[in-house]
Amino acid sequence: MNKPAPVEYAVQDLIKNRWSPRAFSDKPVSSELLRSLFEAARWAPSSSNEQPWAYIVATKDDPENFEKSLGALIEFNANWAKHAPVLVIAVAELAFAKNNAPNRNAQYDVGAASMQLSLEATARGLVVHQMAGFDPEAAKEAYDIPQGWDPIAAMAIGYPGDASSLPEPYQTREKAPRSRKPIREFVMSGRWGHTAEFVK
Ligand SMILES: Cc1cc2nc3c(=O)[nH]c(=O)nc-3n(C[C@H](O)[C@H](O)[C@H](O)COP(=O)(O)O)c2cc1C
Repeated sequence: MNKPAPVEYAVQDLIKNRWSPRAFSDKPVSSELLRSLFEAARWAPSSSNEQPWAYIVATKDDPENFEKSLGALIEFNANWAKHAPVLVIAVAELAFAKNNAPNRNAQYDVGAASMQLSLEATARGLVVHQMAGFDPEAAKEAYDIPQGWDPIAAMAIGYPGDASSLPEPYQTREKAPRSRKPIREFVMSGRWGHTAEFVK
């Protein structure tokens, strides 16, 4: 199932076509493709080129680790994400390695890397569904994540599946139209809350 964004202004097809489905095919993702996804993440920009990201990957053919990641998800997510062939936990290093000063852009940079990963995945016919609904403490414990590193988001990665295979309430959500705020609500100039002229 494709669900291209009903954009108001022209954007690249890759951006239109990326979306967050919950139906996954059970087809595995090759190691070669996984390498490309993380190569895409690797080339994201970051504050001071700190690259404050780490990704913990669990594929379904590694049941022990797949269960560890699945066990960290909230039930609402585990119910559908268990069908994805790959689960990933994105982790941020919260301080600069060089001087231990707080890196206030660490989560931002991890988000940028994860978005690059998501777009690379879209270009290759894969889908990525990011999740805030997981227990960071459970992830830390399951994977011995050291102090100073914070699990930011989980991701389910795989090939798109059949929406009609999803139980409710997921199926209705899968088929619901995609929506966004209009850009005039968040593009400002001059002062806070003043919509930029070019988007009025
Ligand atoms: C950081 C982040 C956390 C999210 N957490 C969840 C989640 O826990 N469960 C879920 O089903 N979807 C989650 N989503 C998916 C969003 O609901 C989805 O991106 C949003 O509705 C827009 O839909 P689209 O990605 O298909 O454009 C998350 C997305 C992001 C980026």
